[in-house]
Amino acid sequence: MAIILGLESSCDETAAAIVRSDRTILAHALAGQEDHHRAFGGVVPEIAARAHAELMAPLVQAALADAGMTLQDMDAIAATAGPGLIGGVMVGLVTAKALAMAADKPLIAVNHLEGHALSPRLVDADLAFPYLLLLVSGGHCQLLRVNGVGDYNRLATTIDDAVGEAFDKTAKILGLGFPGGPAVERAAANGNASAVPLPRPLKGADEPHFSFAGLKSAVLRAHETGKYRVEDIAASFQQAVVECLLDRLRYSVDRINPLPALVVAGGVAANGAIRAMLADFAAARGMRFVAPPLWLCTDNGAMIAWAGAERFAAGLTDGLDFVARPRWPLDPDAPAARGAGVKA
Ligand code: KG4
Ligand code: ZN
Repeated sequence: MAIILGLESSCDETAAAIVRSDRTILAHALAGQEDHHRAFGGVVPEIAARAHAELMAPLVQAALADAGMTLQDMDAIAATAGPGLIGGVMVGLVTAKALAMAADKPLIAVNHLEGHALSPRLVDADLAFPYLLLLVSGGHCQLLRVNGVGDYNRLATTIDDAVGEAFDKTAKILGLGFPGGPAVERAAANGNASAVPLPRPLKGADEPHFSFAGLKSAVLRAHETGKYRVEDIAASFQQAVVECLLDRLRYSVDRINPLPALVVAGGVAANGAIRAMLADFAAARGMRFVAPPLWLCTDNGAMIAWAGAERFAAGLTDGLDFVARPRWPLDPDAPAARGAGVKA
């Protein structure tokens, strides 16, 4: 059995975890940076990189101490090597390289998105390849066919904002604070989801992709009228997101060969309304629904250690000259989506 140390530092969580290939999480240490970024209403890359540099070494020590292990007990050192805020990614990757060199262990450069994509397999031993994955995070909104380790077909992506970005911007517009997703969900719980008329971008469109920028602009306009309660806007926004995701999911599932399981991952997978919709959809289509526990949905070290374990088992390790990647698609062959990269 292999034991892998995994480091995560691509956004605003600094994390280190130790995972064994039999799916035992031996330790996981995590430090959020909300307090560093709250005053700015969003993650400031330079502040994040500095915080990662301060937090990473103590977190690695804490994880090793919790597991009662030393670096010599590790079989490999894994770290997020992209995509993400490049200053932060470099902190984790350089730390992993230094540890790998010092302890003479192999390095595994993990794609952060693969960390999310494989995380459900850490908690569900029965989840076999292939499966359908909805990856919804602060930077991404993609529907993927997961064929195996390092083998993905991207079926759909967003043509503008990521879904988590839409939650975060909505929270900012509504003055709900940061991070936005959980704040919007809390406010929505006390609101009327049909109180505010909002658009459903790309609903019914004859293409597979997602779009959320228009929804965010509509939230701004609705708020500026002064006619609506914040809770009602939050609930109506969340309902619009749920309907858009469902419509787009249906479009793709109707056009591909059946897959046995629908899996959700990424920070937005923590949202109860979205999880409930996905569970219903999967049941209606005879698919198994797999969602990792909430702590494993948002960024963490265990998913990177686990992706490292899966890659290690497949014989995939990397050289110490591996360069951090700000962009790193899971499916490099996917055709460019209309308007991709163009912010609406
Ligand atoms: O995966 P993640 O931790 O970091 C990225 O790789 O982006 O995702 C963070 C995103 C943020 O946009 C956050 O607002 C969103 O996930 N999020 C949520 C919820 N919890 C986190 N969005 C909606 N509802 C939630 N409960
Ligand atoms: Zn993430």
